[in-house]
Amino acid sequence: MLKDKLALITGGGQGIGREIACLFAQQGANIAIFDVREDAIKEVIAQTVSLGKQGLGMCVDVSKFAEVEKGIQKVVDKFGKISILVNNAGITRDALLLRMKEEDWDKVLNINLKGVFNCTKAVAKIMFKQREGKIINISSIIGMRGNVGQSNYAASKAAIIGFTKSIAREFASRNIQANAIAPGFIQTEMTVKMSEASKEAIIKQIPSGKLGEKKDVANLALFLASKNSNYINGEVIKIDGGMV
Ligand SMILES: NC(=O)c1ccc[n+]([C@@H]2O[C@H](COP(=O)([O-])OP(=O)(O)OC[C@H]3O[C@@H](n4cnc5c(N)ncnc54)[C@H](O)[C@@H]3O)[C@@H](O)[C@H]2O)c1
Repeated sequence: MLKDKLALITGGGQGIGREIACLFAQQGANIAIFDVREDAIKEVIAQTVSLGKQGLGMCVDVSKFAEVEKGIQKVVDKFGKISILVNNAGITRDALLLRMKEEDWDKVLNINLKGVFNCTKAVAKIMFKQREGKIINISSIIGMRGNVGQSNYAASKAAIIGFTKSIAREFASRNIQANAIAPGFIQTEMTVKMSEASKEAIIKQIPSGKLGEKKDVANLALFLASKNSNYINGEVIKIDGGMV
């Protein structure tokens, strides 16, 4: 489905990003990864290579524009193109608002939102020249409905939706589609931190009666990265077992 494409996945070292990287490689894409964990980067690139595709992993903090620009240049030097960008890197620093530290607000907004701006701006230049591209931004249902203790995270994920809709309009005439995925609660290292009691409370709110799996999100990302979704632009697709 993605033969001869180059997909750049941020936060591809573990969790949903890694699942997307492996599925895209299985579907014929070469893979570039930006992450901050060198051991995880090495593992996912080894997996990509074992699937018969080329991989390039780099330690890049998406919140730093200069690092992102340098990393993108390396991807272009090696592969000559960037067909798909998945803005997936994200963190949480949860606290009730009155207890939330300024640094936790800044960190979440810088990685989750400014990181999306940085990578999209740097990749857009390349995609404009190519006159084609797919941008997939990982938002969250928390950005749509809010959550106690997650005002920083919710703000970042809601902003990603506005950002996606704006660039979809800006880039459409260049044959570039930008869409967002809003996952519900997916079993990853991020959700593993939750207590059993809060997991049970959440499951009660999910009509499907279970948390989602990484592969559920990866399959949706694959559809949005493929030409099967060419007429979908500026859309936000929830994948949450019917929760919201
Ligand atoms: N897990 C869920 O239930 C869920 C639900 C909705 C949305 N999401 C979103 O999906 C995305 C992936 O989530 P996950 O559960 O796989 O998380 P995760 O914590 O398992 O993985 C996130 C990855 O991002 C990397 N990362 C962190 N800071 C970075 C930075 N500054 N620069 C580059 N990489 C960085 C981490 O090293 C890690 O490999 C996130 O944007 C998250 O907000 C997750």
